[in-house]
Amino acid sequence: MRFGHFDDDRREYVIDRPDTPLPWINYLGTDSYFGIVSNTGGGYSFYRDAKLRRLTRYRYNNAPRDLGGRYVYLRDDSDGRYWSPSWQPTRTELDSYEARHGLSYTQISSTYRGIHAETLYYVPLGETLEVWRVRVTNRRHNRAELSLFSSVEFCLWDAQDDTTNFQRNFSTGQVEVVDGVIYHKTEYRERRDHFAYFACSEPLAGFDTDRDAFLGPYRGWETPIAVERGRASDSIANGWAPHGSHHVKISLAAGETKEIVFLLGYWENPRDAKFDPPGSQTVNKRLVRPVIERWLDGDTVERGFEALRDHWTKLLDTVTVRTPDADTDRMVNIWNAYQCMVTFNMSRSASGYESGIGRGMGFRDSNQDLLGFVHMIPERAKERILDIAATQLDTGGAYHQYQPLTKRGNNDIGGGFNDDPLWLVLGVAAYLKETGDKAILDEAVPFDNKPGSEVSLYEHLRRSVSYTLDRLGPHGLPLIGRADWNDCLNLNCFSEEPGESFQTTGNREGGVAESVFIAGLFVLAAKELAEIAAGCGFADEAESYRQNAEKMTGTIAEHGWDGAWFRRAYDYFGTVIGSSENAEGQIFIEPQGMCVLAGVGLGDGTAARALDSVAERLATPHGIVLQQPAYSSYHVELGEISTYPPGYKENAGIFCHTNPWIMIAEAMRGNGDAAYDYYRRINPSAREDISEVHRCEPYVYAQMIAGKDAPTHGEAKNSWLTGTAAWNFAAISQWILGLRADFDGLRIDPVIPGDWDGFTATRRFRGATYEIEVRQPNGPGRADHLVVDGTRVEGTLVPLAPAGATVRVEVTLTPS
Ligand code: BGC
Ligand code: NOJ
Repeated sequence: MRFGHFDDDRREYVIDRPDTPLPWINYLGTDSYFGIVSNTGGGYSFYRDAKLRRLTRYRYNNAPRDLGGRYVYLRDDSDGRYWSPSWQPTRTELDSYEARHGLSYTQISSTYRGIHAETLYYVPLGETLEVWRVRVTNRRHNRAELSLFSSVEFCLWDAQDDTTNFQRNFSTGQVEVVDGVIYHKTEYRERRDHFAYFACSEPLAGFDTDRDAFLGPYRGWETPIAVERGRASDSIANGWAPHGSHHVKISLAAGETKEIVFLLGYWENPRDAKFDPPGSQTVNKRLVRPVIERWLDGDTVERGFEALRDHWTKLLDTVTVRTPDADTDRMVNIWNAYQCMVTFNMSRSASGYESGIGRGMGFRDSNQDLLGFVHMIPERAKERILDIAATQLDTGGAYHQYQPLTKRGNNDIGGGFNDDPLWLVLGVAAYLKETGDKAILDEAVPFDNKPGSEVSLYEHLRRSVSYTLDRLGPHGLPLIGRADWNDCLNLNCFSEEPGESFQTTGNREGGVAESVFIAGLFVLAAKELAEIAAGCGFADEAESYRQNAEKMTGTIAEHGWDGAWFRRAYDYFGTVIGSSENAEGQIFIEPQGMCVLAGVGLGDGTAARALDSVAERLATPHGIVLQQPAYSSYHVELGEISTYPPGYKENAGIFCHTNPWIMIAEAMRGNGDAAYDYYRRINPSAREDISEVHRCEPYVYAQMIAGKDAPTHGEAKNSWLTGTAAWNFAAISQWILGLRADFDGLRIDPVIPGDWDGFTATRRFRGATYEIEVRQPNGPGRADHLVVDGTRVEGTLVPLAPAGATVRVEVTLTPS
């Protein structure tokens, strides 16, 4: 069952009923001002940091769900009936409804009793404000006298404090209304230099800034007293709950349309601004006024919207493909790329599942996200790499997360996730392959942001690798620390006291649990660093990285191979995990994927055997589960993993992030049918028809789909902010379609399904444009040569073309 459809030409997903199984959201903003917006207008806004600079309030896990947002109410002043044109919060049954989620904008339209309303929400490029453009059309045969009310509830900046520190918060709220603009100027503890504003293009009939005055005490958003009565009360909030609402009266002749623009914005004073009078924010208002005036203008709004659309066209044009499969095309060309940009901006901070409070930028996550966006925004990828590296410690270890506003490592969470540093090597390798910009390796980057501790980025990479080598366990495999990629496999926990939980035991000092997954990741990273070193002329170092990779490969063969698949780990007591010796948790997906990605076992048949085991034991029609059999009871010595019910999350859920590793591994062994089949199982567009089962948005990947042990098998959760986005983009575009940036040029090595006769693609790469045509005339095959501008080139690497050139590449895949 569907709840909407794709409009590929406009690059939109069109939702045609408001009661989607879950709120289907989108993101506003591309740079520093961001918002989440659902298909019924729910969501919130923030500046840079969803925790520390939250503009508007949103109550997670609320009932009814998804209340709190950017609301407009319409009221028919002739009979007092009122409704929400975005359905929420009044949930009036509308005569028509449509929400269009586009690239960084959302437009919600509806008709109710002859009044059509269309609201476009977007954030103009380079501005710290959001526009709501409301167009109201009278489709009745006679004049309509209407009232329109806007509504936002302000958050007192620190979102955590806002939901907990009421003894303070109820006394701090401050607003001011000047010339119809509502200024929310509650001062934030540390810095008293910013405010929000909420402006309207029309003369006001009234306003409210006090939530109780607008809603009425003991009333909810579905029945605000001001709207019911048809009159605002010009309230000024003093403490309690600052709110913003404008009341506008509109009189529309039959057929007439009126456009009203609202702006919600953030303003920050320059550090050296002079206050007049001292301590006040008067100066700011004078500075912000011209910005408000400019964006309240309809033409400016229209041009800003066009600029936003052009911005996306430019970004997405970097890679475009035309294959026999519409689900593949729209994901690669539009939605998957878009989701990668969103994970770039949000990391794992703010979504329908991430409260914006809990998690900042992940060290591991952000490095992997880079794989999905580096080709679109290489300069920003560079900045991101340098930011991440600057949080690394001189041991080579890493804070697990950092805060986007301060860019400092997050002390609450700390480090000790022993895979973290290695991802930096993969991130930098991806950047170098895309750009060829070796100069980044010489950038001076501090440790833990400490001035004076700067070393080259290259030295950071060295330490990432030696961090693993300095921490090998009893079998010569890397120590796992608190966890590796699987945050929930906490193997250094154990309990001497019955009833203790992994959280109370924490990590025992000197824990010797080891990870086969990190061993695979190490081999991959060491090989990449060997190539980077060789490219810099450090031949000896390159050789030593290669030797270390080889040695670790041997260790995996000796202690990490279980006979039919790669083992997962050894726990604190030296007990093997992910082995036929175990009662549950016999086979895990992560080492099968990562070891093969690193090339382990490709030459001796073990990789193929491991992938066959994945197909036999882990694959389901909804994707590949993380492990089998699921843990049926809690084991303190395994940590968080066994706290999940069977089939959910790390306990045998379909953890989508790991599925592309298997797709890539299948492509590496030349099995295009299997790779593509796995790809389609979790491709959200290909699952659109089962939206009542999948439940999450059909246009973006979710972190998890419930596994076969779960009663809700096939149900997705945690959409949007997941490494699934980057890795699926890599799997389909770089390995299945085979368009892969490499250190010395663009590699084209497709491994596509046997029944495809080919595809075409355009790839912008280091300033040149490659027009690629792939043919597969005689069943599944690989390329052994290319034809570049009519000339035969052996192998699969297109030689670098000068910037500005357009290069035609023809590729014929032939069975071996
Ligand atoms: C989740 C993991 C997540 C971790 C973050 C766990 O509860 O299962 O997927 O990475 O929390 O701290
Ligand atoms: C989500 C986290 O963001 C990611 O870093 C981790 O690898 C997975 N969960 C698996 O635990």
